[in-house]
Amino acid sequence: MCGIAGYIGKNQASGFLLDALKRLEYRGYDSTGIAVLGKENTLNYVRSVGKINALEEKMKERQSDGCIGIAHTRWATHGYPSEANAHPHSDCNENIFVVHNGIIENYKILKKELIKNGHKFESDTDTEVIAHLIEEHFKNSLEETMLNVLKFIEGAYALAVISKDDPEKIVVAKKSSPLVICIGKNENFIASDSSAIAGYADKVIYLDDDELGVVTKDDYKIISITSNNKVQKNCCKMDLDVAKVQKGEYEHFLLKEIFEIPEVIKNSTRGRMIPDQGLVKLGGLEVLDQSKLRNINRIIIIACGTASFAGLVGEYMLEEYAGIPVEVELGSEFRYRKPIIDSKTAVIAVSQSGETADTLASLSEAKRKGALTLGIVNTVGSTIARETDAGVYNHAGPEISVASTKAFISQITVLALLTVYLGRIRDMSLVTGKRITEEIDELPCLIEKVLENDKQIRDLAKKYSKYKNLLFMGRKYNYPIAEEGALKLKEVAYHIHAEGYAGGEMKHGPIAMIDENFPSIFIVPSDSVYEKNWSNMEEVKARRGKIIAIATEGNEEIKDIADDVIYIPKTLEILTPILAAIPLHLFAAYMGIELGLDIDRPRNLAKSVTVE
Ligand code: F6R
Repeated sequence: MCGIAGYIGKNQASGFLLDALKRLEYRGYDSTGIAVLGKENTLNYVRSVGKINALEEKMKERQSDGCIGIAHTRWATHGYPSEANAHPHSDCNENIFVVHNGIIENYKILKKELIKNGHKFESDTDTEVIAHLIEEHFKNSLEETMLNVLKFIEGAYALAVISKDDPEKIVVAKKSSPLVICIGKNENFIASDSSAIAGYADKVIYLDDDELGVVTKDDYKIISITSNNKVQKNCCKMDLDVAKVQKGEYEHFLLKEIFEIPEVIKNSTRGRMIPDQGLVKLGGLEVLDQSKLRNINRIIIIACGTASFAGLVGEYMLEEYAGIPVEVELGSEFRYRKPIIDSKTAVIAVSQSGETADTLASLSEAKRKGALTLGIVNTVGSTIARETDAGVYNHAGPEISVASTKAFISQITVLALLTVYLGRIRDMSLVTGKRITEEIDELPCLIEKVLENDKQIRDLAKKYSKYKNLLFMGRKYNYPIAEEGALKLKEVAYHIHAEGYAGGEMKHGPIAMIDENFPSIFIVPSDSVYEKNWSNMEEVKARRGKIIAIATEGNEEIKDIADDVIYIPKTLEILTPILAAIPLHLFAAYMGIELGLDIDRPRNLAKSVTVE
């Protein structure tokens, strides 16, 4: 969580830094701050509680013409969201300023020691110890001091530091939190991710763990924190369209990203299917010895939140069509268990950001135990993408809205591709392979039809936003979609309480809540569990519960039982979750709008959960 940015170059730093903060706001938005080294070696800083516009207002009063600066947008871990706790943090004399994403786990011991040595602390944060440690140990240069100081620090960090005592540089360092350096012409940029820099320059260097970077106006060097040796790193070309990180004609990123889904599916599947041969080609997996993939006898999918629901859909798909036993594990649980893993186990990490701390830690544990590790990741160059043995990128484009929508749909799509890929190297028939790939090919058109229900869904949100609770239910492939629908509503329209349940579980508890004030959303496509879902709807109706049904086009009888129906086109049962999730995403978005909430940046959330 938290976003950091830095600029050093020919222009005033504040322009880029404010722009970068706006693009990084999805990583945290309870307070922000900026520090700029002025031309006369003065260090000016501004900090503010709330979102970037509050900082922008404050900066109008305190303009700084400096060309070197760092900035931060915060998601509080240690200390309330207050001005004092907002970054950048400084040493006692305001000579050194630090922005930090991560957690310094041993900060209490370090702070105690520093206070004993006379340092005065202004905040409750863990980060402030870094500035004081640098002050305490400053010797020769900022990088030399940091190489020394970082050895005392335990925890996770992406850091950017500037100092009046060594002014012509920004020193950065990384361990477990992401950091990129972007190389421009007479200017260089730093950010938590490349979306913050898109349009400014296109050569990026992804720092690895335990690396420190010294960034000047015209140059950079990378040094290993463990050996103090220089590290040679390749620049990658950033392939990011700046329009993708802007709202364009939409008022909200969330809606923009939902409406991008047909395009996203095309991008996630482009060049990856040969429908007339019923085959899928996944270049990222073809680098592996294929016998390794053929010999897998168990798959564990590791993910968190929405990505874990995509994983659950994947479990049903892979078991039914590729014949491989699959378990889905939450990263936050898996990492603390004693999982049984061997070399025939494939562990697949599913992650939009590729930086989720719990998913990453679980992956490392699985790797240590000898599993084949694979990734389904959206963010190119992210840590999970780099840590896995092989993987498949989603190509969903940058997802800026904190709540995941298009990436979720892409994750399910890629899992369907993987099902065919693994199924066909086992005993999936040509006919089945053809049927699935041909239908995946149809998805963009089918989704366009789902999106035509936009106005109806908006009206439904008006009607249902007065309720305080909602239950989402589905069975089989659409049980995870019930969970996803509820999670999305909780996130985006958080004044309404929502729960997602497997339809068959209703009688084991949740039915007690049902009455005329507690509506249910049933995901009931015409599939193999339609009749079972129907019985559950009868049970709700018998208790005067209102029903919104997501049903297959042409199903007229559903109107006899449901108060409202949203139709989705007919498709294969395994692909219904893709079509059913989209109306639920739209519903959550419009409910949030009805309630007057910031649907792109719901309170208390951050997009990349880079801390446990
Ligand atoms: C919900 C949401 C989160 C993420 C979760 C995992 O809308 O976005 O639940 O799915 O934090 O994030 P990634 O996919 O980046 O690992």
